[in-house]
Amino acid sequence: MKNDAIGVFDSGMGGLTTVKELNALLPKENIIYFGDTARIPYGSRSSETVMQYAKEDVAFLRTHAVKMIIAACGTVSSIVGEQPFVTDLPFTGVVIPAVKAACDITTNKKIGVIGTPTTVKSGSYERAIRKCCPDIVVTAKACPLFVHLVENGYTDFNNPVTRLVAEEYLEPVRKAGVDTLILGCTHYPVIKDIIADYMGPNVHLISPGVEAAKYARNCLTEKNLLADRIEKGENIYYVSDSTEMFIENAGNFLHQDVDGKVFRCSL
Ligand code: DGL
Repeated sequence: MKNDAIGVFDSGMGGLTTVKELNALLPKENIIYFGDTARIPYGSRSSETVMQYAKEDVAFLRTHAVKMIIAACGTVSSIVGEQPFVTDLPFTGVVIPAVKAACDITTNKKIGVIGTPTTVKSGSYERAIRKCCPDIVVTAKACPLFVHLVENGYTDFNNPVTRLVAEEYLEPVRKAGVDTLILGCTHYPVIKDIIADYMGPNVHLISPGVEAAKYARNCLTEKNLLADRIEKGENIYYVSDSTEMFIENAGNFLHQDVDGKVFRCSL
């Protein structure tokens, strides 16, 4: 089991921000990634639909030998919550790891959360923050266009469209005086520089994908499930739509070319 893969999934490419961090933290691990690129976005769908998709995504990952599953998607994590349907394997979403990091870092106890409409509507981050630290003030804002901008490669620091959209969405969060901002969707770290530029140098940005990868490392260490192979692990990617489009855009998330085989699959 130790040398089984870590299964990671997202509605598209956002979960690659988790893969990048897993590769850095745990280079000997094999990763099996599933991006549901044919059905993205999840973030504007009903919770019933997101739940159904999440179950299908997990069922697909489980057709491979996986020792842990990471829902590297803020939307899925928000809907599946703390009662995941995966009970026989270690499982994590991104909400709890991101909230723990944010609560540790805030000093003025004002935290901002941005995410997809479904995530923000679910109140998942606020609930988790209140559990962790009841006196923290949370300002949440849905940013529906960010996912489309990122998936379509509008990610350059000087991109005028993305900068304008960021200003529009982030204005109330900046006005609220937060010192910590959770990028509550795994797509958003790709435009982190634009967000940071607008929020100013005193606001800490928390990337949920990165925090989930750290959580996975701790969890596998505790359970004595870290891979013990000598050589570097490998990444295998599955997508439900075009592999060419995935390969073309994945570099924005991984900060390098795709470093593994990419297959198209149907669920
Ligand atoms: N990456 C997904 C998340 O973290 C959002 C993309 C979508 O809307 O499907 O919420």
